[in-house]
Amino acid sequence: MRIAMIGTGYVGLVSGACFSDFGHQVVCVDKDVRKVQLLEKNVMPIFEPGLAELVANNVRAGRLSFTTDLAEGVRNADAVFIAVGTPSRRGDGHADLSYVFAAAREIAESITKPCVIVTKSTVPVGTGDEVERILKEFSLLKQGVTVVSNPEFLREGAAIEDFKRPDRVVVGTDDEAARDIMREIYRPLSLNQSAPLLFTSRRTSELIKYAANAFLAVKITFINEIADLCEAVGADVQEVSRGIGLDKRIGSKFLHAGPGYGGSCFPKDTLALLKTAGDVEVPQRIVEATVQVNEARKRAMGRKVIKALGGDAHGKNVALLGLTFKPNTDDMRDAPSLAIVAALQDAGANVRAYDPEGMAHAEALVQNVAFHPNPYAAAENADAIVIVTEWDEFRALDLPRLAAGSRSALLVDLRNIYPVGEAERAGFKLVGVGKPR
Ligand code: UGA
Repeated sequence: MRIAMIGTGYVGLVSGACFSDFGHQVVCVDKDVRKVQLLEKNVMPIFEPGLAELVANNVRAGRLSFTTDLAEGVRNADAVFIAVGTPSRRGDGHADLSYVFAAAREIAESITKPCVIVTKSTVPVGTGDEVERILKEFSLLKQGVTVVSNPEFLREGAAIEDFKRPDRVVVGTDDEAARDIMREIYRPLSLNQSAPLLFTSRRTSELIKYAANAFLAVKITFINEIADLCEAVGADVQEVSRGIGLDKRIGSKFLHAGPGYGGSCFPKDTLALLKTAGDVEVPQRIVEATVQVNEARKRAMGRKVIKALGGDAHGKNVALLGLTFKPNTDDMRDAPSLAIVAALQDAGANVRAYDPEGMAHAEALVQNVAFHPNPYAAAENADAIVIVTEWDEFRALDLPRLAAGSRSALLVDLRNIYPVGEAERAGFKLVGVGKPR
């Protein structure tokens, strides 16, 4: 199959590289000249494990190329994927679809033969209909061009694995010829009964994406509130998670209590779902509550640290280990660390930090934070050391060394990485999330 991928952000680049690795002929298109030049030199615009090698291998094999020329990329394609950004629109929280529609228009101007146009970007229900309307203006529908929804379910940091071993692939279209093309594109995955290629209508497929992310956000927020309850009644949230997660109807994933969810997807997609629901006057109260509870939680984690410091953070040194919203990414979008830094600084603390990949981006987002080259330097003379992101390298810290270099050997572990015994043996007082005191 010949595939054009419009947009080389997270989703576009990972999907394009993986499709080429399946053996398809893929052209990735981006307007950003510099990005394309760097990609041609195998410099990745994002940090994603395994991506640079995957891109290099497939470029070398002649299956993957990059261009700024959309018309050229689209001309002979059997499938054109739209994978441009859909950020929250400033002011109202609706998904901003201007990039999607602009791409659709340009594609329509460049198509020369029947093909499928696939929206991979996360788009509100009904966007496929809008794209179809644009194609109609160019009389393309009559010429065998169809619009398909094919949402992505990739986690940053594990995106290639998620692409190659999905739980399911969702394809929204009622058009049989389009289904055949999509079947062919995903054939190398050998999807089966337990990891199926799921065909639905286009609107259903668009909603599946939002419902999935909203449900996961609800799940995380649920266990975070249970964690608060655990602290109040002397129970252990990790054991509660295990105890409920073993029930197959509940499932053990996404039950890790922490500082609240962040990132480029859950915050944006939950808001967009609420906007859609508002437009059709069907309130989604559980998702509404989730958004509010999560927003409040991020700053509350700053207050948790202040409480652990005895209620006064004035002039105290607080070392944050991990700044990105999750490990294995340099992404700082909506990271809980940002709210934590703000809460601590408002309380008069001196904030210092270390993150394996996120410091360059973080520097642009926070002020008066001292960045350090490793956890031990960040923790030097700290009154509290706070694990914010569960990077693997924080799982094997030399705790006695960390404690000895700090001022008060206080560890606030917002990801529950360390068992209390291990921390105490190293000389730390440990404060976790949802742990009995
Ligand atoms: C999420 C979904 O997991 C993907 O399926 C989806 O494709 C993607 O959004 C998207 O819409 O593009 P991502 O945001 O990369 O992926 O990261 P997650 O691993 O889902 O983590 C999101 C946030 O939830 C992080 O802040 C993480 O720390 C938090 N989280 C996750 C918890 O606090 N506890 C958990 O048990 C799991």
